[in-house]
Amino acid sequence: MTHQPQAKYRKDYTSPDFTISDLDLTFDLFDQETTVTAVSKVIKQKDNSTLTLDGEHMELAGIQIDGVEWSAYELTDTNLHIHDLPKEFELAIITKVNPSENTALEGLYKSGGAFCTQCEAEGFRRITYFLDRPDVLAKYTTTVIADKETNPYLLSNGNRVDSGDLDNGRHWVKWSDPHPKPSYLFALVAGQFDVLRDQFTTMSGRKVDLEIFVDQGNLDRAPHAMASLINAMKWDEERFGLEYDLDIYMIVAVDFFNMGAMENKGLNVFNSKYVLANDQTATDTDYLGIEAVIGHEYFHNWTGNRITCRDWFQLSLKEGLTVFRDQEFSSDLGSRAVNRINNVRIIRGPQFAEDASPMSHPIRPETVIEMNNFYTLTVYEKGSEVIRMIHTLLGEENFQKGMKLYVERHDGTAATCDDFVAAMEDASGVDLQQFRLWYSQSGTPQVKATTNYDQQNRTFTLQLTQATAATQDQPEKQALHIPMNVELYAQDGSIIPMVINDKPAGNILNFTQDEQSFVFENVSEKPVISLLREFSAPIKLHYDYSDEDLMFLMVKAQNEFACWDAGQNLIAKYLRQNIAAFQTDKELSLPQSVLDAFKGILLSETLEPAFISEMLTLPSQNEVAGWFKPVDVDAIAEALGFMKRAIAAELVEELTAMYHNLKQDQYSVEHDCIGKRSLRNTCLAYLAVTDEGEKLVTAQYQSANNMTDTMAAMSSANQAQLACRESLMKDFSDKWSHDGLVMDKWFMLQGTNPANNALEMIKQTMSHTAFSLKNPNRTRSLVGAFFGQNPVNFHKIDGSGYQFASEILIQLNESNPQVASRMIDPLLKYRQYDETRQVLIRTELEKLSKLENLAKDLYEKINKALEA
Ligand code: TRP
Ligand code: ZN
Repeated sequence: MTHQPQAKYRKDYTSPDFTISDLDLTFDLFDQETTVTAVSKVIKQKDNSTLTLDGEHMELAGIQIDGVEWSAYELTDTNLHIHDLPKEFELAIITKVNPSENTALEGLYKSGGAFCTQCEAEGFRRITYFLDRPDVLAKYTTTVIADKETNPYLLSNGNRVDSGDLDNGRHWVKWSDPHPKPSYLFALVAGQFDVLRDQFTTMSGRKVDLEIFVDQGNLDRAPHAMASLINAMKWDEERFGLEYDLDIYMIVAVDFFNMGAMENKGLNVFNSKYVLANDQTATDTDYLGIEAVIGHEYFHNWTGNRITCRDWFQLSLKEGLTVFRDQEFSSDLGSRAVNRINNVRIIRGPQFAEDASPMSHPIRPETVIEMNNFYTLTVYEKGSEVIRMIHTLLGEENFQKGMKLYVERHDGTAATCDDFVAAMEDASGVDLQQFRLWYSQSGTPQVKATTNYDQQNRTFTLQLTQATAATQDQPEKQALHIPMNVELYAQDGSIIPMVINDKPAGNILNFTQDEQSFVFENVSEKPVISLLREFSAPIKLHYDYSDEDLMFLMVKAQNEFACWDAGQNLIAKYLRQNIAAFQTDKELSLPQSVLDAFKGILLSETLEPAFISEMLTLPSQNEVAGWFKPVDVDAIAEALGFMKRAIAAELVEELTAMYHNLKQDQYSVEHDCIGKRSLRNTCLAYLAVTDEGEKLVTAQYQSANNMTDTMAAMSSANQAQLACRESLMKDFSDKWSHDGLVMDKWFMLQGTNPANNALEMIKQTMSHTAFSLKNPNRTRSLVGAFFGQNPVNFHKIDGSGYQFASEILIQLNESNPQVASRMIDPLLKYRQYDETRQVLIRTELEKLSKLENLAKDLYEKINKALEA
């Protein structure tokens, strides 16, 4: 490390000294040396004659001011300072970049044969020297020049306004984007593609051309993405009244991409994982993921692009809100309960873990070294929960009024989280003063509930306390405004109306103090309380439920999420007991009543298969790990394995019958077909650990006519370590080794292999022809899965997992720091483990911290982890 990376603070925000109203870009594209000419119209805003531009990893080849060569400038590693500037001027800058050597995949790079860009958050500064900050909004025109044969398509933001041929086999296309935008939304793509075209007529009757660009030969994998895009456009009009604003909407699928997708204005660039699907290559989960991500990027057009962020500390303004919108989209199109369950799993698992880690931060961070490190579960998923709480407090109608006011006030500008909350407050009249703390306070609130029934007075009292433990970033915590969604049930399953102070209370209680009591009146029998319905706040709730109450709620709660949550609580109770039993050499056990409760769910004639499948799914090893400190990975694995075998043994007949009943001859991605496959494959995962496992899994693999069933068979074989695992894996790899995206599924199974020699096999797998550490998808599937989803092997007490992690991170630190930084997370949480493991992990982190060329991405995280 040559010099220490500098932290930035939210409180230090100042508006820019200069603004840029127009930017005219010309790209002369060549693999090794692309020339970028950037002509800006610059306007001085403050009394300062020096303009400081951001720029790195490129060569400066010329500066002119108003057509005159300029020599009054200084250049550093990260900035260009231009002196002696007038009030308004035209700035022309020529830079040269090398796309083919750009392995970081930020700025302009090559993905396979195509040129593409990634500018969020701070990638534009690798293309030209610029005011690379989201509050500088300019109108862009972009001319792209390239070889015509290898790059027949030349794309950028906005509308195509002109084009022509040059005499040296090259051609050009000029684009103009009428909507002022920050530099992070700029995009350019050039290459050879197959294109799927369609059209959408907006609610006001305008026709929009839709184009999806995929690698040649992949056209048959694009229709689902197109259908999802059309559904998203329609849904945003119907639910939010928001209409698309250009004549063309383009999506390009690329194989080399650091994240999921990017909402560049009019030209989204997608990780091909979130575009390409057909029934032979994609699972149901892939299909649903594509729908969600296509929706997410489309919804950014209003929440992100038309209204953008003033500074990067406000990232959740666009991301939390857009995640909320994509979750609602998926819930309106599919199963609301299943979507909610899966989103809650993410919060209770990895997001709570992030909150408890050295990287703990509020959804609106206060300090940042590397912005790429803050595209987190906290900013995105907890950010969405915060929006959801506002929705819960206001109701749909007022929430939509708030959205309308927010758009009216801030369209075409760069706004803050406070602006959003103020619009919600002003439109609804609901006081959100205390609620704003959710934006500034990090960590997970712990809420304890106790109840008391007073038969004589016919009152039922709910007593709540809240406390948030200190986090590394923030020692002092305050009481939050927590919307508590509750319901009371009588023994016959009917709802007891909630009356407080003689008035109907509604389901949402405003829990705002450290300690607070709610007294329900007119309660004629001791009720069963359903707490935190719909997971109405991202908190950890502790309430001493009896088994009877949980079994009651599993069946009687008039809300599917509450049924599921009761089931999870019941499972959690016995998981804890069995973990303790394992640790003290006692016998593991599960009462007959619990087994019967799950049998009842499996045999239910009223519940949807998709929902039954969720009810029967045990929590992940990682989620359970979050309940303990120190974490005992082996005990957790044993207890989970025991529970699975116990349920499978008890329900083997019912599971087998269900498994055969649910067989479908034809593959369809209709939601109820997905639901049936989901339940059938959950049955298979249980049956895999019974005597019939080998036979059923092999038969399913051989007869599967779709990737969902193929993968379910392989995954069951992998998890249950069946003898057939090796032959299935070999067959699959023989069939698919030419297709990296499909092989990712196979790499993931190798990465999560529970076998004792998994690490050895993973190392061998790294020389598979389809594997490359240069490709983020491959890396995450094999190596990332090992770090994050193979706890027993990763945390092996001999330290081999940790050593392997640092070997890989040393390589990625050089080639792609952003990917390295996302993969290091499991190591940061070393304090959750026992002494021996803590020392082993610390040793690796210290080794990494001493790397000479440590990127700021890893520097920021490792430093926080070591300083704790
Ligand atoms: N804005 C993108 C999204 O929400 C996130 C993203 C895509 C991103 N690619 C990135 C963020 C690269 C940082 C760096 O979908
Ligand atoms: Zn987003």
